[in-house]
Amino acid sequence: MSGAEARDAATAQAAALRADALAGFSASPKTLPCKWLYDAEGSRLFEAITRLPEYYPTRTELRILAESGSDIACAVGPGAAVVEFGPGDGTKAVQLLGALTAPAAYLPVDIAPEWLDAAATRVAVAFPRLKVRPVVADFALPFDLAGRAAGSTTHLGFFPGSTIGNFEREGALAFLRRARASLRAGSRMLLGADLVKDVAVLEAAYDDAAGVTAAFNLNLLARLNREAGTDFDPGSFRHAARWNCRLERMEMHLVSLREQSVRLAGRVFRFAEGESIHTESSHKYRPDRLRELVQAAGWRPARMWTDPEQLFSVWLLEA
Ligand code: AVJ
Repeated sequence: MSGAEARDAATAQAAALRADALAGFSASPKTLPCKWLYDAEGSRLFEAITRLPEYYPTRTELRILAESGSDIACAVGPGAAVVEFGPGDGTKAVQLLGALTAPAAYLPVDIAPEWLDAAATRVAVAFPRLKVRPVVADFALPFDLAGRAAGSTTHLGFFPGSTIGNFEREGALAFLRRARASLRAGSRMLLGADLVKDVAVLEAAYDDAAGVTAAFNLNLLARLNREAGTDFDPGSFRHAARWNCRLERMEMHLVSLREQSVRLAGRVFRFAEGESIHTESSHKYRPDRLRELVQAAGWRPARMWTDPEQLFSVWLLEA
């Protein structure tokens, strides 16, 4: 990207953030899409979250990929091209590719080129002879992968991390259907999904003792001030992590500590004391509900692997 292109992209992104904030702060209850949590500082804080003692998903999923690796490899079969949606730093791909038998290629898909580079480099260093082909695309939109793997290889979609949990039902169905349409006919998908568990374990995972998740959530207000021109006083909000038992999801909120007003694009938004902005939902699944969800999107759940404490699940889906 040239300097001018980077500036245009930043301007377009600021406009989109402002539009989402205007819509979200006009809604009741107030809300903002969770993708805005991940600016440079938010991405750094999320990395730190994955290493916290309370945040079990990342290390548990890696453990499942390690301990069930040969079983997963056997179920997947040889020669698959791995298509990872939102590869992060590529750590999970390295674990998976190391377990699979003769994978044909690694195709990380992400809208952010800097994430793609990190993942592609890590995988290329670990497997110097593997074909690595980054795809710059928004996997929340339809995209075409048909020409991206040589010969007759089938695709293995890979969507780890329980990122599926950030979607509401309709969004999750749309993602799963789109993934099926984007991958080659006869392809499969490896999907990571966090499981319903003891509420105390969930609440600690989203409100850690060191305050890293609180900083991750509150960073959104600093970003809004910098990029959308709001005048939030981040010190007058606190982080809250709540289990929504009806919808079986963890929610992150930014709770106003006092009555206050915030300016945005010439408008004023009032916050009552205790009123919050809902910044993220992280749905947790019971195996039956996950099965029902993927089936409604046209996938057949073929296998499921979990850890000894049944904290997290990894699924093999067939189209
Ligand atoms: C990366 C979206 C899977 O929902 O657990 C971690 C993000 N939010 N702590 C999750 C997150 C608060 C994470 N995902």
